Amino acid sequence: MAPQSKTLFEQFLAPIFSHLIDRDALVRLSESIDWETAVAEFTNPQVVYPNYYKTSNFHGVKHGYLNKDAALTYDPITQYVLPPGETWVRESLVKAIGGNPRRILDLGCGTGTTTLMLKGHFPEAEVIGLDLSPQMLVMADHKARTAGVNVTYRHGNAMATGLPAASFDVVCATLLFHETPPAVAKTILSEAFRLLTPGGQMLVLDGNQRTLRATDWLSTIFEEPFIRDYSQGNVDAWLGYAGFEQVRTEDVFWLNQLSYGRKPLPVAERAMEHEGEGVEVGLPLGQMA
Ligand SMILES: C[S@@+](CC[C@H](N)C(=O)[O-])C[C@H]1O[C@@H](n2cnc3c(N)ncnc32)[C@H](O)[C@@H]1O
Repeated sequence: MAPQSKTLFEQFLAPIFSHLIDRDALVRLSESIDWETAVAEFTNPQVVYPNYYKTSNFHGVKHGYLNKDAALTYDPITQYVLPPGETWVRESLVKAIGGNPRRILDLGCGTGTTTLMLKGHFPEAEVIGLDLSPQMLVMADHKARTAGVNVTYRHGNAMATGLPAASFDVVCATLLFHETPPAVAKTILSEAFRLLTPGGQMLVLDGNQRTLRATDWLSTIFEEPFIRDYSQGNVDAWLGYAGFEQVRTEDVFWLNQLSYGRKPLPVAERAMEHEGEGVEVGLPLGQMA
C-alpha cells in the first residue's frame, strides 16, 4: 500500500470543516483587521515561547497558534467540537464559580469566548485573559470590542505570568491542558496557586480524561500532539500536587470534564469557616451558584 502522506485530520476533519465554514465571511473578517499593527500591539517582546509551543502543529495547523489563520478559524470550528453545545459546556465553568469574585484570570484564553462569558456573568469583576498567541489575542480583542465588553487581554506564558502573587479570586483554564505536556499543565497550576488569594478558586474545563482513555480514535483524529499524555494523567492529582484543597472533577456531558480546587485559607480563617462564620465553604460543583 502506498504511504499515506495526508494526516487523519487532513483526510477526514478538514474536508468536513471546510464545508461548515463560511469562507467569504472569514475573508471579510480577516480583511477588516490590520493584522500587522494589531499583532505588534499585542506582542510583548519579553515573552519567550516554550519549545512545545513553537514546534507543535495543533489540529494539523502548521506553526500552531502563531498565525492568523489559526485565530480566524478557531471559533468556527470549535462550535462543532463541544457536544452537546459550546455555550452549555463553557457555562458549566462559569456557573461553578462561587461568590462574587473581584478579579478573574483566564489562562490560555485563546479567542476569549470563555473570557467574555466570565465578564457577562460577573460584570463588576475585572477580567483578564492571557495567552501566548498574539494572533489569538487580536481575535479576542476584536470580539470584545465588537460586543462592547470591557476585558483586558495580555500576551504571556501561563507558566510564568509575571502578574503579582495573591491578586486573583478566580483563575481558570478552558481547553488548555490537553494542548500542553503534563509537566507544563502542572507548572501552570503552580503559577495559578501563586496568583490566587487564599480561598481563591481554580477551575479547569477540558477534555474528559476517562472518555479519552476509552476512545483512542478521538485522540488520533484530533491531531493534538499532547492529548494522549493528557488523557493518561489526572487533573485532580495535578491540582492536589499544586497545593489545592477541596479538589474534585465532574463530567460535562461525555467529552469534557470540569475540575475544581481551592487555595487553602490561613489556619485562623479556616477555624472560623468551620464555625460557619461567614466564609463560604466549597460545595459540590453541581451545587455551586
Ligand atoms: C485550544 S485553545 C483554548 C482557547 C480558549 N481557552 C478556549 O476555551 O477556546 C488553547 C490556547 O492555549 C494557548 N496556550 C498554550 N500554551 C500556553 C501557555 N503556556 N501560556 C498561555 N497560553 C497558552 C494557545 O495559544 C491557545 O490559544
